[in-house]
Amino acid sequence: MSKVTVIGAGNVGATCADVLAYREVANEIVLLDIKEGIAEGKALDIFEKSPIDCYDSRTYGVTNDYTRTANSDVVVITSGLPRKPGMSRDDLISVNAGIVKSVTENVIKYSPNAIIIVVSNPLDVMTYQAHLTSGLPRHRVIGMAGILDTARYRAFIAEELNCSVKDVQAMLLGGHGDTMVPLVRYTTVGGIPVTELIEMEKLEFIVERTKRGGGECVKLIGTSAWYAPGSAAAQMVESILKDQKRVVPVCMQLKGEYGLTDVYQGVPVVLGKNGVERLIELKLTPDEQALMDKSAKAVKEVMNVLDKLNSQS
Ligand code: NAI
Ligand code: 2OP
Repeated sequence: MSKVTVIGAGNVGATCADVLAYREVANEIVLLDIKEGIAEGKALDIFEKSPIDCYDSRTYGVTNDYTRTANSDVVVITSGLPRKPGMSRDDLISVNAGIVKSVTENVIKYSPNAIIIVVSNPLDVMTYQAHLTSGLPRHRVIGMAGILDTARYRAFIAEELNCSVKDVQAMLLGGHGDTMVPLVRYTTVGGIPVTELIEMEKLEFIVERTKRGGGECVKLIGTSAWYAPGSAAAQMVESILKDQKRVVPVCMQLKGEYGLTDVYQGVPVVLGKNGVERLIELKLTPDEQALMDKSAKAVKEVMNVLDKLNSQS
């Protein structure tokens, strides 16, 4: 029997729970929100869809009742404010840090052995907050961003080549923000290096569009995206619960890897039943390393803001 809790039954949390249910990733999915009725209602809707889509996973909704989350194998934290047009992810820090801290305290009280996947923004720094609060080892507290950012990049490449997204493979490093580092050198289409198929100028445009991918959706919708983010978080849960050992980018604390220490960055990992089972360290070119360093510096600045907030509370 496997159990997943999704904290926050808003756009991303409810989508994640839905994907987990219809793909039968876990037997039991608990959706928790602070707003009365919303998690219960959405969980009921997902349950009522199960005869149509033919799945046996059962979703339950609760209002802030952490006893119902007890003994979860994986907990996905999506609670917190999303961006509105004109806002950066970093603008969310003061409100979301308090939410992620209190949620993590409750999560760990009832599921001390869970693996935590953070989604709330600013992602890298909220992963830091959950890691600090939970006291779990770093391979069990990870953030979702790289799968989403890579998916955007892969989708844009497939669109440019008018080919199947299934054949586009890519890796991306760094923080979840404008300083993310899509790795053109490690991008292939059906095994062919993408640089042989798309000219550099066009690829640079795709990389820039990927970096602004979240903002592009915010501008169109008026709030942040949820279909791709919800599915990306569900893919991480699936790789863990089914011990698939997928090789994906996740955000985690670095301890000297990539020449960086005590900073949270997206890096390629093998994701299995123990969370991060292996961190893959690529040999970067000087240009790529410079981009990674710049990204780490940007995240570190926001981590320092969090440290100040935590010392005042
Ligand atoms: P939303 O507003 O639709 O849902 C957030 C939910 O969290 C609301 O239902 C709210 O009631 C709930 N909530 C607030 N405080 C809570 C608490 N203390 N306990 C339990 N629930 C609480 O927002 P959405 O679109 O689902 O986004 C959620 C978060 O995920 C935002 O911070 C957003 O920026 C982030 N995000 C991160 C992405 C990533 O790639 N890491 C991608 C997309 C969104
Ligand atoms: C996204 O990238 C806003 O982080 C959110 O869609």
